[in-house]
Amino acid sequence: MNSGRKKIALFGATGSIGKSTLDVIRRFPDRFELFAVSCHSNIGALEDIIDEFRPKYAIVTGEGNLKRTDLKVLRGKEGLEEVAAHHEADIVLIATLGTIGIFPTIAGLRAGKRIALANKETLVAFGSVVVKELENSRGELIPVDSEHSALFQLLLCWKEDAETLILTASGGPLRKLSRKEMERVQLVDVLRHPTWNMGKKITVDSATLMNKGLEVVEAHWLFRFPPERIEVVIHPQSIIHGILRLRDGALVAHMSTPDMKVPIQSALTYPERLFSEVRSPDLPDLSSLTFEPPDFDRFPLLKLAYEALKKGRGFPAVMNAANDIAVKAFLDGKIGFLDIEKAVFTVVNEFEGTEEDLGALIEADLWARRKAREVVDSLV
Ligand SMILES: NC(=O)c1ccc[n+]([C@@H]2O[C@H](COP(=O)([O-])OP(=O)(O)OC[C@H]3O[C@@H](n4cnc5c(N)ncnc54)[C@H](OP(=O)(O)O)[C@@H]3O)[C@@H](O)[C@H]2O)c1
Repeated sequence: MNSGRKKIALFGATGSIGKSTLDVIRRFPDRFELFAVSCHSNIGALEDIIDEFRPKYAIVTGEGNLKRTDLKVLRGKEGLEEVAAHHEADIVLIATLGTIGIFPTIAGLRAGKRIALANKETLVAFGSVVVKELENSRGELIPVDSEHSALFQLLLCWKEDAETLILTASGGPLRKLSRKEMERVQLVDVLRHPTWNMGKKITVDSATLMNKGLEVVEAHWLFRFPPERIEVVIHPQSIIHGILRLRDGALVAHMSTPDMKVPIQSALTYPERLFSEVRSPDLPDLSSLTFEPPDFDRFPLLKLAYEALKKGRGFPAVMNAANDIAVKAFLDGKIGFLDIEKAVFTVVNEFEGTEEDLGALIEADLWARRKAREVVDSLV
């Protein structure tokens, strides 16, 4: 009865993307089967998922012990790698936080799997490595990030004619605030995202526009467009996710309700399209769709991301790692909102560049994390 079901390894199953993915799997029990799951430390939530879906593997990447005899329990990045390359896994959906995602991405590509990648930090830090792996493998890389999912679909039709990629950004919860007002902003204000319901780290990144900067780098590696041909536009309603500027003067856009189940389902079923529980927007309800240019002065991390991408040589990896540490410190209440960019700029300014191979980029990532911790401590 179960033959033909795609077996999904879901890494970061206990997070926001993980939960939306489980919703999609629940909706199509005859199409998908949960083969493996991972969490970092939320063992209780992982146990609930295991009880419901009965996967064969579970991986714990952080602290905590999962004591079960009804499935195989693995640990750490080695566990993610083993399952990503497992002969039974068909699709590996990577929705972990941070840069650990590079390990199952490489292992899965080498084993010829479909990697559905939500974890943008992996491409930001290790984009050149992933592209090389992809070129030499039978595997495929399908974006889950909503903007990149939209662009991926548009480029299937218009790759030859596309001059520019346009990524939309909601502008985040602080879109209208002055720099002065940002100095006083509290965590609760930052976590109140106007359109998307996401994990805390990405919600903070949306408020600094670092998230859009990371997405510019992600788009570069996914679609091989240079930074000059990747634009960002603020679109507060989050209905349009990606736009192509075509050479004949046309713009083509992808629209959907802002719900991550749409791009997740698309990545799991591509090239098929199945009925979704998420309705497409009714056009008369969209009384106004508005657009404005991003303000690089109020949101300097977006500008930094373009500069880091142009420099290459590990600068995006360092920017990303410093941002991870600074955002965590902000979430822990140790530093203020504007200290995030202060820490990131300080670390990036001290970096001198490195080689573009995996070992050197991992070194750069670790160096930036150490440095960022020092900077954060000096700001506390
Ligand atoms: N949320 C969105 O709408 C959205 C949209 C586009 C892209 N993304 C990207 O998708 C990824 C996940 O985002 P999210 O919002 O779902 O995050 P989240 O809600 O914080 O969930 C993160 C998941 O990763 C696990 N995790 C945390 N730290 C980890 C570590 N150091 N190593 C391995 N796993 C770790 C967590 O496990 P525990 O629960 O045990 O801590 C959880 O399962 C991020 O890269 C984000 O940029 C998210």
